[in-house]
Amino acid sequence: MLKIFDELESKRAGTRNGIPRVEGEALYTFVKDHGIKRVIETGIEWGFSSYYILAALPNDGLLISLDSSRSPHIGSLIPAEWFNRWQSVCGTSKTKLQELFLLNREIDFFFHDSDHHFEPQMFEFETALPFVNYIGSHDVHLYGPQFAWDTFIKKHNIEVLVSLGQLGIGRVNG
Ligand SMILES: C[S@@+](CC[C@H](N)C(=O)[O-])C[C@H]1O[C@@H](n2cnc3c(N)ncnc32)[C@H](O)[C@@H]1O
Repeated sequence: MLKIFDELESKRAGTRNGIPRVEGEALYTFVKDHGIKRVIETGIEWGFSSYYILAALPNDGLLISLDSSRSPHIGSLIPAEWFNRWQSVCGTSKTKLQELFLLNREIDFFFHDSDHHFEPQMFEFETALPFVNYIGSHDVHLYGPQFAWDTFIKKHNIEVLVSLGQLGIGRVNG
């Protein structure tokens, strides 16, 4: 797996965004170590975070990834043999996120990496909160202050399990 992650990281050089390897590996380890099976994420782009999550999920796991863009590069890193565990959905979090949680019960983990402004992040975290055990973000200190991640974890007294660069993951229930 480490060699595959090296290859993945080398592809990131040509992209503007995407979770870097060190944070991607922490995301992978979190998903594996916490027995996560069902995930919803926002913000796919080429699919770096989707790749790390899918690599860690069990064979009967599920990742639902939401992105507002219809560009052909969206999710293009994801190998075809993982498509049975991956649903890519086109739409904005405002219009689709709650519907995805209502349609797909027993989601363990929500991961944000879409619109990094304060209001959209808070909207995503608050929408996910009643449905999941863990919430993560890949822009904990990108735009701000006021940082949405800090505001959210303080507001709900959330235990932070992972804090590395722009990656943050907390336990919200369970
Ligand atoms: C930082 S990139 C995602 C990077 C990706 N997580 C990775 O590690 O490769 C942000 C993505 O969020 C999408 N996006 C922006 N605003 C959005 C919204 N309101 N709802 C859903 N997707 C959105 C963009 O189209 C873009 O593809």
